[in-house]
Amino acid sequence: MSVRRLAPDHVQPASFAFTAANENWADQQIAKYPEGRQASAVIPLLWKAQEQHHGWLPRAAIEAVAKKLGMAPMRVLEVATFYTMFNLQPVGEHFVQLCGTTPCALRGAEALKKVCEEVIGPQSTVTADGKLSWLEVECLGACCNAPMAQINFDYYEDLTPENFRKLLGDLREGRPVKPGPQVDRSCSEPLGGGETLKDAALYDGSMIGAGDWQARITTQREEAAIKIASEKAAAEAKAKAEAEAAAAASKAGPTDVKTTPAPEAAAPGRPKPSAPKQPANAAQDTPSATGKAIKDTPAKAPARKRAAKPKSEE
Ligand code: FES
Repeated sequence: MSVRRLAPDHVQPASFAFTAANENWADQQIAKYPEGRQASAVIPLLWKAQEQHHGWLPRAAIEAVAKKLGMAPMRVLEVATFYTMFNLQPVGEHFVQLCGTTPCALRGAEALKKVCEEVIGPQSTVTADGKLSWLEVECLGACCNAPMAQINFDYYEDLTPENFRKLLGDLREGRPVKPGPQVDRSCSEPLGGGETLKDAALYDGSMIGAGDWQARITTQREEAAIKIASEKAAAEAKAKAEAEAAAAASKAGPTDVKTTPAPEAAAPGRPKPSAPKQPANAAQDTPSATGKAIKDTPAKAPARKRAAKPKSEE
């Protein structure tokens, strides 16, 4: 990452003003925001100022944008120095932003840097003819076609020292160049061509509406409909059987109460006596364990009464 400082004074212009067309464009951008929020247009205006001033932002342009938006110049300077899309140093007619992040570095970006140094010179300097300048930047999001560089608004990918050197030469001489991959592949498909959807029949328009694929689709739809219907019927039968069982159980309920001795009732919140397993702390849930008074049960009551009887009555 380069140091984000304004260009030295000797290259700074004395003043900056938007052209009439750009002034009109700037007013339209500002009008997009509510009253009092004009500062929201700072990035578009800085971008337009950079575009007007040969690809870089001088101090005068930053101050002009601040004045137009009613902002403190320092606030606009903060934005301009934060975003690397704003160039604070003069750039060449073809500004090369060479990616030096890991995927590109692993694929040969170091060799491309050497090409830049040989063909253009040190970073952030413009060639004597004003045609080229370069800067190492962070990942530009085209890692699958690494190594790559952005030159003005276009990406150039799958670079090698040879094709990169030729590319720079073509740009300098004004010869036509091809953005995108510089090898024989389209976009980011695999090297050597695509590996999927290669059946030519897929691209044969005459196949539309013909062939047995229609029959296959129809069969699949019919099978799916049959499956859904059978699952629905099974679910309905199961629900009906459960309802009948519940109704039978509710009818038989009172008879069972009369004829069958009631099992030992479990107190609410306590496990049933017949439960095979009890929680580890089940013993703590008994009245004695919890410190509650033990009420007489029918079995224990006579014994206590006997114990309390006066001797004279015996
Ligand atoms: S690392 Fe170079 S484009 Fe992502």
